[in-house]
Amino acid sequence: MCGIVGYVGARPALSIVLDGLRRLEYRGYDSAGVAVVGDGELLTEKRAGKLANLEKALAERGIADPEGTGPVLGIGDGTTGIGHTRWATHGGPTDRNAHPHVARDGRVAVIHNGIIENFAKLRDELESDGVEFTSDTDTECAAHLLAGALAELRAGGAPDGPQLLAAAMRQVCVRLEGAFTLLAADAAIPGAVVGARRNSPLVVGRGTGENFLASDVSAFIEHTREAVELGQDQVVLITADSIEITDFDGRPAAGKDFHIDWDASAAEKGGYDYFMLKEIAEQPQAVADTLLGRLTETGEILLDEVRLSDQDLRDVDKVFIVACGTAYHAGLVAKYAIEHWTRIPCEVELASEFRYRDPVLDRSTLVVAISQSGETMDTLMALRHAKEQKARVLAICNTNGSTIPRESDAVLYTHSGPEIAVASTKAFLTQLVACYLIGLHLAQVRGVKYADEVAAVVDQLQEVPDKLRTVLAAMEPVRQLARDLSTAGTVLFIGRHVGYPVALEGALKLKELAYMHAEGFAAGELKHGPIALIDKGTPVICVVPSPAGRGMLRDKIVSNIQEVRARGARTIVIAEEGDEAVLPFADHVIYVPRTPTLLAPLVTSVPLQVFACAVADARGHDVDQPRNLAKSVTVE
Ligand code: F6R
Repeated sequence: MCGIVGYVGARPALSIVLDGLRRLEYRGYDSAGVAVVGDGELLTEKRAGKLANLEKALAERGIADPEGTGPVLGIGDGTTGIGHTRWATHGGPTDRNAHPHVARDGRVAVIHNGIIENFAKLRDELESDGVEFTSDTDTECAAHLLAGALAELRAGGAPDGPQLLAAAMRQVCVRLEGAFTLLAADAAIPGAVVGARRNSPLVVGRGTGENFLASDVSAFIEHTREAVELGQDQVVLITADSIEITDFDGRPAAGKDFHIDWDASAAEKGGYDYFMLKEIAEQPQAVADTLLGRLTETGEILLDEVRLSDQDLRDVDKVFIVACGTAYHAGLVAKYAIEHWTRIPCEVELASEFRYRDPVLDRSTLVVAISQSGETMDTLMALRHAKEQKARVLAICNTNGSTIPRESDAVLYTHSGPEIAVASTKAFLTQLVACYLIGLHLAQVRGVKYADEVAAVVDQLQEVPDKLRTVLAAMEPVRQLARDLSTAGTVLFIGRHVGYPVALEGALKLKELAYMHAEGFAAGELKHGPIALIDKGTPVICVVPSPAGRGMLRDKIVSNIQEVRARGARTIVIAEEGDEAVLPFADHVIYVPRTPTLLAPLVTSVPLQVFACAVADARGHDVDQPRNLAKSVTVE
């Protein structure tokens, strides 16, 4: 949510910052802006809408990418720069509310991700000092405060230079409440960018003769694979040759160095029209990578960073899964597996609701926090609440070094590589895999399942990548169906058992991408109300379980399909290959390879992803950047 880039080095900053913003645009695309420092001057430009609007505005001013072909003004060559792509919180998505915000001295530019909760008080105070605001944002307060702090420090005799910028930023940070990542540059201090973070993401890219700051590593991966993770409440000052980290009181702090092990092409479209299509296609590999190396020779599951003993896990008497959106749906599937394999009660809760209802937690509760980004504020706050109540927290995360795994007692990383499309696909599948592994690990540690049984399920999981390849190779009829149904007013999804969360996920994908009314239901609930929605031709997508494992369940849902069909629904049935019993009741059948019931969501979800993507495309929507959304939701 909001993408932030900063650069200091020897190369023209503008093109590097714009490139970084292009890679971060998935984090927010309501507006974009840049500030470049060169020759003691500050160049800023910002525009509502996507990055292309900003680039057009720069070109119209004759400030083109200095490495490109257009005309260049001297200032565009500045080698210090910051840039922002916004998901609006305070103030609508207009030019004036776009970042950077420049203080009244015209020299200090600030960009921000997060929400400054005490902004109204700060704004009153600044306005009574005569500051005139030029935007409706909370961020502008930070710009004026920073300029004020710099002026005061200078008036007190502090020498100009990068350290002054860091000292002023520290003074500002202690006055701010809420969540923020801030980056700032001062035209009077070329060659330095200062950053600060509290509860919002910021990483440092360590280059040679140049350094970077960004919301995530994809912004600078083209230039360096060496990164530094920052802690909470820290200020970081970068120059071309140095990275200095302190806490808000100025005490030196150490960052944690890490190497980024995926390459720049992982964050490129690679010939696909959309990132989402590429990410759907990457799912066999993502699942295989997430399984890789998880099983020891003696058949035990390996977690990545476990700061929990086997005894801690044996003491667990209740599991809570907290997550949002698609990750929450992964949690709903996990409940079936965890309870079945471990016999421990498992509750799944939306992270945004969890801490506000005072859940019963103690040392024997294991809270599993699932998050692709590792930065989702609702999930982070749920995790912190759980820790305050002394519960143990285990994270499932796709983003190395992000806040959620860092604050958890144990972590299982999913290895899906960067997920750029706003709608989650490969991260969802790998979250499911991680949930299965955790269920098996718990069962094993507690002695409910033994090495050979665990190895058998892991073997079944190892077969999933090939099954996914089979599913993906047979998606043309799904795309055709999507085109046919792209003008439907509503699409309903039904399922039972683990098919129910799959139905919810299918509906979520369609809502967020196609902006269509879509609902997922437990098929057994239809008769308690939702069946009234069925009209002649209403498309109902039915996720049917395997007749093998849970034949009774399959028969029950077949009855539900008959019920909706009898009321005029157009039924689209996702069933296991060879299940001919569904044929008489299906207007369309999508077959998927035979998979054990608990693992079936790994294959049944895929046609629903392809369907939503194709409907959105047919309706002319931007599949990767659906309206009003952003990846990595770092506000509550
Ligand atoms: C939907 C989607 C979102 C995320 C949710 C949680 O396609 O991607 O619903 O699943 O915002 O995000 P993470 O997993 O980053 O915590």
